[in-house]
Amino acid sequence: MIRIYTTQKDYNLYRTNLTHNSVGIVATMGNLHEGHLSLLQKSIEENTVSVVTIFVNPKQFGPTEDFDKYPRTLDEDLNKISNIALHASAQYPEKEIVVFAPKNIDEIYPIGFNTIISVGGVTQSLEGAKRPTHFDGVTTVVYRLFKIVNPSNAYFGQKDYQQCIVIKKMVEDLSININIHILPIIRNSDGLALSSRNQYLSESERSIALHLSRTLKQIEMLIKNKKDYTSLISDELRNNKWDYLEVLDSKNLAFPQNQTKELVIIGVYKLGSTRLLDNILVSNL
Ligand code: PAF
Repeated sequence: MIRIYTTQKDYNLYRTNLTHNSVGIVATMGNLHEGHLSLLQKSIEENTVSVVTIFVNPKQFGPTEDFDKYPRTLDEDLNKISNIALHASAQYPEKEIVVFAPKNIDEIYPIGFNTIISVGGVTQSLEGAKRPTHFDGVTTVVYRLFKIVNPSNAYFGQKDYQQCIVIKKMVEDLSININIHILPIIRNSDGLALSSRNQYLSESERSIALHLSRTLKQIEMLIKNKKDYTSLISDELRNNKWDYLEVLDSKNLAFPQNQTKELVIIGVYKLGSTRLLDNILVSNL
């Protein structure tokens, strides 16, 4: 059984009785896939209470982006969560799974809400350069969700790698007492990283999309074999539809230095109006 709350007031009534329990949050915009469910599984393993939030956050979409057509599938999402809860209850009868799915935008942004949480530095490149208001929208909503849910642990998917780094920086800079866990990308058997936006792809685009993960893998092999990868990147940027394709320091998304321990190979591939994000982490030692 899962508990479902659509208002802060009702969630708060529940939350105030939980003082001694660890709470994990899995923040989502719904349309849940195996990637989201892997975060929930981890949260269930590590917390007494796991809260999945479902809210399509208007503030992180630019004016010409897909806010209106973003897939809203609450009933299917609740079924998937209930299914996980059913399995979890056999293994962990004491654990609880909660969904916070505000129906009304005022639950997150009350009338007159006029605050932006804005992280500098790591938000300026990659996605931030292409979508200038995006990360302010993400950090503002994640901050709100953290305040409402009051978790001890938060689980995010590595697929949105820059988002993870930005959220970590917000938590560090604002001394927010929440552990951020970044969990590996879940892929289809052909290598395509799972994403709610994959469903925008036509059959033919779907197979072209595999070029993204294959290119990242090729770069990974070059790095592992200590070979030059820069000419492959230049060729790709020249000949294919990349928004960006870079190899950076995984810690801060800066240009790698000799002392960089781990690299992130990160790229966005454009297929029609759909932008597909992917990345691979690789040791630099
Ligand atoms: O990754 C997402 O789905 C969203 O950016 C998040 C973290 C739920 C904030 O709306």
